[in-house]
Amino acid sequence: MAQPRLVLIGPPGSGKSSVGRRLAELTGLGWRDTDADVATLSGRSISDIFLDEGEQAFRTLERAAVVAALSEHDGVLSLGGGAVLDPATRDELRSYVDAGGCMVFLDVSLSAAAPRVGFNRSRPLLVGNPRQQWKALMDHRRPLYEELATVTVLTDALSVDEVATSILELE
Ligand code: S3P
Repeated sequence: MAQPRLVLIGPPGSGKSSVGRRLAELTGLGWRDTDADVATLSGRSISDIFLDEGEQAFRTLERAAVVAALSEHDGVLSLGGGAVLDPATRDELRSYVDAGGCMVFLDVSLSAAAPRVGFNRSRPLLVGNPRQQWKALMDHRRPLYEELATVTVLTDALSVDEVATSILELE
């Protein structure tokens, strides 16, 4: 049974995908992303799943993608920003950490996340007032990210390359 070398968590705009790709390049390991897995497995975009079936249906698909990736993938794994919300998914992530896994929280402030996110339709939870939504979402999730993290990097002033390099120094 495989175990990811690193799992990246954090809110939208923290750089989970770009840092994950860069880490994979630097380490020569594979990169996997649970949002992409959900879209591939369901044959639909994430925003369509949210629109047609709602957030809870998405979280169930996401949990299956997280469980599969945690046991099949031995490289770098990026999770969707809300993967820490579902208690059963969180239990899976906690088991990975308890087994010695490296869980990296990419921390970011609203002002640094805003230009990275772009606040468009592909972020179904950030409709209406995206800045306010992002802030509320981060206030709620911060303790969940912090509780799971074995490594935290504040990404605000760092390039993708600098974030990836710091993670490899800290893991
Ligand atoms: C979500 C974040 C998205 C995606 C979905 C829900 C969230 O991933 O999983 O739209 O709840 O924060 P990113 O964090 O990669 O944007």
